[in-house]
Amino acid sequence: MRNLMVTGGAGFIGSNFVRHMLRKYPDYRIVVYDKLTYAGNLVNLKDVARDFADRYAFVKGDICDAEKVRAVVREHQVDTIVNFAAATHVDRSLMEPDEFIRTDVFGTYVLLEAAKEFRLERYHQVSTDEVYGEVLEGRSRETDPLHTRSPYSASKAGGDMLCIAYYTSFGVPVTITRGSNNIGPNQYPEKVVPLFITNGIDDRPLPLYGDGTQMRDYQYVLDHCEGIDVVLHRGKPGEIYNLGTGVETRNIDMARAILDLLGKPHSLIQPVQDRPGHDRRYALDISKICALGWEPGYTFEEALERTVRWYVENEWWWRPIKSGEHYQEYYRRQYEEREIAKPDANDK
Ligand code: NAD
Ligand code: DAU
Repeated sequence: MRNLMVTGGAGFIGSNFVRHMLRKYPDYRIVVYDKLTYAGNLVNLKDVARDFADRYAFVKGDICDAEKVRAVVREHQVDTIVNFAAATHVDRSLMEPDEFIRTDVFGTYVLLEAAKEFRLERYHQVSTDEVYGEVLEGRSRETDPLHTRSPYSASKAGGDMLCIAYYTSFGVPVTITRGSNNIGPNQYPEKVVPLFITNGIDDRPLPLYGDGTQMRDYQYVLDHCEGIDVVLHRGKPGEIYNLGTGVETRNIDMARAILDLLGKPHSLIQPVQDRPGHDRRYALDISKICALGWEPGYTFEEALERTVRWYVENEWWWRPIKSGEHYQEYYRRQYEEREIAKPDANDK
């Protein structure tokens, strides 16, 4: 494993992963292949392009474009694909599912075809705990059935199933990680944590869906990157690995913790109309990846504190995004009509 193609490498987790791998493995080369959608941002890789100019390349392209994918694999002598490329935001998947089905299902198929044709050493699929669906009790194991409930999770599950099919039918050496919610630098401010932090900084309301008691497992993005690295090197082809912390946080508690770190009042929390089909809880059994020698390196408090600090110190990164027309239009569409006040979330 020497020549990695990282698809979706200009996004949040992908860019953190590229930096992590180039720093850690001096003999690895990485070509990032990314369509640069609204969520892809070359600024996330500016330091990488500067510090690793001899081992890093960028190609703008769509994972659904089979010819271009094949050309890049050939030209860069790619031996490993790590696929982060996806449409990723659940709320957008409720508005416009087509891009989710196209990229997360068909795009995965295109990459798997390339992995098969060029007999790659590994194809790694970055998946999500959302494919298990809402888990009200207990913890999901990798062998559990998939009960997806949103177009996003259904599309990601489709991608996972194709990976397993290509392993079973064609022997493509596939691995899959199913990660929980990531937080950290460079996350697009549509996701709840950067949205709440940046709204809090500006004394704007934090729109909390429903009663705010839904639970998520928030992991620091570098822990996720390290986990993928461990699976690439020690994971077994054909296997799936859950990747999270096992620690659960209610959305209302997350909102309060962010405001406390910012020194802002809890009255900024604004209960709004819930997300349709909102999964109340995800929870992962992470014993399988821990058996490979991985463990979370950051506590919830450390992860959140670092994340809040990054957004406070890097307004130059997120202000242009939030003031841009694309974001403004999305924000209006997503939140303008939701602001139907619910009982005071601070009572919970
Ligand atoms: P992101 O939205 O920040 O970035 C996605 C990247 O993919 C962007 O750079 C975008 O330009 C690119 N992309 C989108 N469609 C493409 C296409 N058709 N062709 C090429 N590039 C395309 O996403 P993220 O939060 O960094 O998530 C990365 C991966 O991790 C996704 O597969 C997601 O499902 C998975 N995941 C995310 C989380 C999370 O909490 N963010 C948790 C578990 C798993
Ligand atoms: O679990 C992994 C998944 O985590 C990834 O696969 C997805 O790509 C990623 O977007 C994320 O999905 P979620 O739906 O869990 O993340 P989001 O940040 O959108 O929401 C987290 C929780 O916060 C969820 O319970 C909904 C709630 N929420 C979200 C937003 C955007 C709010 O209360 N208000 C909001 O404005």
